[in-house]
Amino acid sequence: MAPAAPLLRRSELATPATSDRMFDRAAASGADLVFLDLEDAVAPARKVEARAGAVAALTGRDWGSTVRAVRVNGLHTPWAHGDVVEVLTGAVDALDTLILPKVTSARDVWWFDVLLTQLEAQLGRTRPVRLEVLIEDVAALAAVEEIAVASPRLDALIFGAGDFSVSVGARVDTNFAPLGDYPGDFWHYARCKVLAAARIGGLVAVDAPYPDYRDAAGYTVQARRAGLLGYTGKWAIHPSQVPIANEVYAPTADEVARAERDIAAYRDGEARGLGAVGIGGVLVDAAHVTLSQAVLARARAVAERATAPRAVAR
Ligand code: GLV
Ligand code: MG
Repeated sequence: MAPAAPLLRRSELATPATSDRMFDRAAASGADLVFLDLEDAVAPARKVEARAGAVAALTGRDWGSTVRAVRVNGLHTPWAHGDVVEVLTGAVDALDTLILPKVTSARDVWWFDVLLTQLEAQLGRTRPVRLEVLIEDVAALAAVEEIAVASPRLDALIFGAGDFSVSVGARVDTNFAPLGDYPGDFWHYARCKVLAAARIGGLVAVDAPYPDYRDAAGYTVQARRAGLLGYTGKWAIHPSQVPIANEVYAPTADEVARAERDIAAYRDGEARGLGAVGIGGVLVDAAHVTLSQAVLARARAVAERATAPRAVAR
């Protein structure tokens, strides 16, 4: 039996919920997930009116197969409760996922889960709202394994390098890069910890935003770095970053060819009673088969997404 289709979150595009001129571009961007931001992209004075903007964006257009998400404000603010209630009441089934920022513990995730369960029952929603959590606070990093298993609604952990820099006190520039020479990868520890926790919870890990949207090469380097570790997607803060993420996080033709070759050779060896076979001087065993099956499942998911319904232009 083919493994379940992997969750595709190659690109998650941020769009301010107050900017309706950006909604069409976001819908047409090809991002796997678009989120309407009620948090840092919205000034405090506009937080309340922004909720109606998010609802209008979710319900007023056909998003095709794009995952529709909203980033609400965190539990430390006066807006989190109203954000969830107003957005879900207005959008009902036109919302797939909520993104939770500045979570500090599993209890925070539980709070959202309980509120959503009550609202879903009241509104007659037919399927549960999914959750993605930003790990961008030192307390969240310390508790990340518990956070990753805090709710069956969870799909992804997102590493938020911006607020994490603030929380940890890192000396970084506006692109969250270290302000001086640093041996090795500045984010390696945090990225690995978030990734391992995500895998414990059966979730995907999504890499941080890259604010310098004119630096496509820099975005590509960071996306690849995270991808080699096991991240399967990255935030995009501009539509131009979406095709880069979609390409970086899709298996390459070489990876697919190698996976097919290894599986075929292994099956051939198996038929001859062997548990491992040599291919070009390399021993291929069951672990290679599992790895290869994952590559092929991902390639299939990417191909299906390419032919899935697109957002309808208005
Ligand atoms: C994202 O929200 C970040 O802080 O990097
Ligand atoms: Mg943040």
